[in-house]
Amino acid sequence: MGSRREFLRTASAGALADLTSKTLLGAAAGQATISVPGKEGLIVRSYRFLDLETPVEYMTDWITPIPHFFVRNHMFEPAEIDAKEWTLGIGGEVDKPLSLTLADLAKIPVYSVTNTLECAGNGRSQQSPRVPGIQWGKGAVGNARFSGPSLKSLLEKAGVKDTAKHVVFRGSDVVPGKVPPFIRSIPIEKAMDVDTLVATHMNGAALTPHHGYPARVITPGWAGAASCKWLTQITVQDKPADGNFMLPGYRMPNQPVKPGEAVKPEDTHSVTGLAVKSLIAGPIDGAKLKPGSQVVRGVAWAGEADITRVEVSTDGGASWNLAQLGKDQAKYAWRLWSYPWKPARSGDYTILSRATDSQGRVQPDAAVWNPSGYFYDACDQVKVYVQA
Ligand code: MTE
Repeated sequence: MGSRREFLRTASAGALADLTSKTLLGAAAGQATISVPGKEGLIVRSYRFLDLETPVEYMTDWITPIPHFFVRNHMFEPAEIDAKEWTLGIGGEVDKPLSLTLADLAKIPVYSVTNTLECAGNGRSQQSPRVPGIQWGKGAVGNARFSGPSLKSLLEKAGVKDTAKHVVFRGSDVVPGKVPPFIRSIPIEKAMDVDTLVATHMNGAALTPHHGYPARVITPGWAGAASCKWLTQITVQDKPADGNFMLPGYRMPNQPVKPGEAVKPEDTHSVTGLAVKSLIAGPIDGAKLKPGSQVVRGVAWAGEADITRVEVSTDGGASWNLAQLGKDQAKYAWRLWSYPWKPARSGDYTILSRATDSQGRVQPDAAVWNPSGYFYDACDQVKVYVQA
């Protein structure tokens, strides 16, 4: 491996060169979707730091194939990581600080968790009034099977002291200029949950570079920001991490606020578990349908809770019908759902989906506005036209 400076130069330049050659050409040609190798068909929300969104019509599989899985980066991805050189440090409030290689990780029992990973900012573009940040449509979400040692087993190896209250993660993404590094922490209780992983595999294959190769945290059921990619350092502390991505970043108001209203940092808390939510994968918004039998289908998830029901309305919310839930299910994983529908007449239809979970949470008609546009959770809606 070269020097750190050389590494940084390659990473920044490499990421940009690769993207500009593909994406800017595409942009000039006025294409709506632009190809990033291995991620063809995803919607590019940002070029500088790669942010790729999954079109909703791809959400028909229980397990999202890697080429269709969204990408969310706050920084440049590390250009190249030499697996033989890579180490994971564990330090702070532990009895025995460790430095583990990939070979060390491979000797630790493997856990697998099928987890719906959703970015806290998913759906932000639907918030009104508009809030700053990546204007995600509906598809900063995917469901994958992650495998690797449980974080608990690594922390136990290092010996967690009684003073341990929070676990801080640092990845090797390349921080440009004065941008603060992406450092976040989770409380010790969630870190010691056997389902929280240091994942090395996704859908049965080694993690790809976009998803955090060679190892990432998976904090199941929580906003994606708790799942640090390109993990290199775990620090156990008696307090949460500080820095931009903990405060003011990734926080929700403690009380509902009026749309457009500013919130004091002391009246906020760090984001944790995901909301209950459903999306309609088909028919897609604006579709022109032939008369006859149709299937309305989609996905629904609820973070740490389970989906108990999905309802569909084909008359703009006047009446609701139960959708059938797909057979595939796992804690933290989304459910597929479908509803057979035969439109009675030609004309315009507004189709809605509404999910309910095991905590009794129900998707609301309208999302509660917040200054960062997190956890947009309103019932999903598409408008279609049935042609006679
Ligand atoms: N980890 C690092 N090191 N840097 C990042 O920018 N983004 C986080 C998280 N982990 C991020 C990170 C956010 S906001 C999300 S939503 C998820 O990664 C996205 O994971 P994915 O790109 O594998 O879909």
